[in-house]
Amino acid sequence: MHNYEGLKNGIKSQLGIDLHSYKEQQMRRRINQWLDRHSLKSYNQLLDVLRSDEEHRAKFLQYLTINTSNFFRDSSVFTNIEKQVLPAISTHNRPKIWSAGASFGAEIYSIAMLLAEYNYFPQLLLATDIDEAMLEQGRNGIFQPSQLTGLTQKYLEKYFTDLGDGRMAISEELKRRIVFQQHDLLKDPYQTGFDLILCRNVFIYFTSETQKRLTARFVQSLKPGGYFIVGSAEQIVDPASFQLDRVSYCIYQKKL
Ligand SMILES: C[S@@+](CC[C@H](N)C(=O)[O-])C[C@H]1O[C@@H](n2cnc3c(N)ncnc32)[C@H](O)[C@@H]1O
Repeated sequence: MHNYEGLKNGIKSQLGIDLHSYKEQQMRRRINQWLDRHSLKSYNQLLDVLRSDEEHRAKFLQYLTINTSNFFRDSSVFTNIEKQVLPAISTHNRPKIWSAGASFGAEIYSIAMLLAEYNYFPQLLLATDIDEAMLEQGRNGIFQPSQLTGLTQKYLEKYFTDLGDGRMAISEELKRRIVFQQHDLLKDPYQTGFDLILCRNVFIYFTSETQKRLTARFVQSLKPGGYFIVGSAEQIVDPASFQLDRVSYCIYQKKL
């Protein structure tokens, strides 16, 4: 009943997601939960439903990619971004910032709000994700109450409009600064010349070989002296082997 190899191949051809690079135990547990929830008896049955039911396919994709996020996630990291990283890169020529695995954009909007406080905007604020539905929400900039945790009253008042039904809309000024683009970290080419790349709470789902391969690719995409920021469960064990120095908790800098 549970032929995981067959499922991986089916998901790759139907959804374009290569589960070979994701941690197997974690993914299998998640997929099995999905089977239980939808009374599906086997991986083959799941593949049949994915083939025939577009709505099921979209929901399963969202479930699989786990797009939980919130504004200013890990506030101590954001304190260091504000105090150390943004002042440093603001001295660079036409800086570029990339939030990879951006989900609905909470991370890149948090960065944009910090920059707006100094009335400073880089050349590019890029947010990418594999999940187009999440990117679309980021582009629309309208958030549910559950997605607004982490925001102080000051930021809510300054950068959001209350839509009257609990949802909040982010300011047009911030919205138009950000480019939301679909991108699969496992197979698409990476842009280069970044001063700051954030890839947080994405690596946890990948195998350690994939994590290493992607770390090397991110470093290639950074300018010398550029910063790379990971999630709290994703510390890089041997930063020097990737030409990185550890600057502070979760924050690394590419050697000059
Ligand atoms: C838990 S969220 C993290 C969001 C945000 N970075 C944060 O820390 O709050 C993980 C995101 O990674 C995205 N993701 C998973 N696999 C990906 C891949 N192969 N390429 C690009 N994004 C991917 C998911 O769609 C999801 O939005």
